[in-house]
Amino acid sequence: MDQVDLRTSLLGLTLPVPVIINAMTGGVAEAAAINRVLGRVAAAFGIPVAVGSQRAALDDPSLVPTYAAVRTDNPDGIVIANLGAGATPQDARRAVSMIGANLLQLHLNAPQELIMAEGDRDFRGQLGSIAAVVADSRVPVVVKECGFGMSAETARRLHAVGVRAVDVGGRGGTNFARIEARRLGLRGPVDPGLLDWGIPTAASLLDVVGAALPGLDVVASGGVRHGSEAARALALGACAVGVAGALLRAVQRGGAETAQDFLAGFLRDLRTVVLLVGSTTLADLRRAPRVLTGFTREWAEQRGAPLASARTVPQPPRS
Ligand SMILES: Cc1cc2nc3c(=O)[nH]c(=O)nc-3n(C[C@H](O)[C@H](O)[C@H](O)COP(=O)(O)O)c2cc1C
Repeated sequence: MDQVDLRTSLLGLTLPVPVIINAMTGGVAEAAAINRVLGRVAAAFGIPVAVGSQRAALDDPSLVPTYAAVRTDNPDGIVIANLGAGATPQDARRAVSMIGANLLQLHLNAPQELIMAEGDRDFRGQLGSIAAVVADSRVPVVVKECGFGMSAETARRLHAVGVRAVDVGGRGGTNFARIEARRLGLRGPVDPGLLDWGIPTAASLLDVVGAALPGLDVVASGGVRHGSEAARALALGACAVGVAGALLRAVQRGGAETAQDFLAGFLRDLRTVVLLVGSTTLADLRRAPRVLTGFTREWAEQRGAPLASARTVPQPPRS
């Protein structure tokens, strides 16, 4: 067990374990305390931590401390800035310098915006905005979905404009369609096809990893709550997993200590699965034989994603 090596890399940065605390909060009073705790937890494990969308602080600089709190107990860790995909290069620079960020996430969340009463209705020009930020940014950029999943087609378009990391942000965890519908009460959608819109995380990973885009790092998030789920995502080719809701619930149960216990258990369970399939590194885990069942298998077949892992792909007969 001690020899299991969970090191990975994301956009040229080495991470001791393949976990990212994903974007959650900022801009409201309670956020300062939460971001401080998340920063402390990230420092304890040497893992990256993202803040929530910094739009609020760009519009009202008095809110900057609610985001900068992530640095209070984590002065030297990897911190990730966060803005919507329509951000300008100038917005992106301000967001990065606000928290001394090492990476920048640009989030895509069209389904959430369309369900929100006050959400965006116009997504024209987003790919161009992303390209402009990528070209200008002095820190590497990750384009992430927020729980609706990313298709191979989207990943290809992002890759073509210079994006070198995506977070597939698949369906299966925090569901912003349902959150926004509940906020709207009776005026919210009741169509289950909309409330459960999106590509599940495993299917999205198969799609995006299967696109085999050179130099693209793929992060898996959306419903990653346990080490065994992280192991599946890493086996499907993710370089790291992002965890949001499950960690926030741990913070709310008992602050930094409970969140650290949660992550320690998560990593122990991940190590256990890696060892159980006979691997000692994540590269090994990716080559372990795999079996896809049910919906995920149907998805892979229809989308032309590889069913087998690298080691088990049948070789053509030699002549
Ligand atoms: C309370 C909360 C706030 C969030 N705010 C943001 C945000 O501001 N920007 C963003 O990119 N994602 C945001 N997310 C989405 C998460 O980063 C993540 O993509 C999503 O929750 C799916 O992961 P999960 O199933 O582990 O929660 C938020 C999630 C939660 C739970």
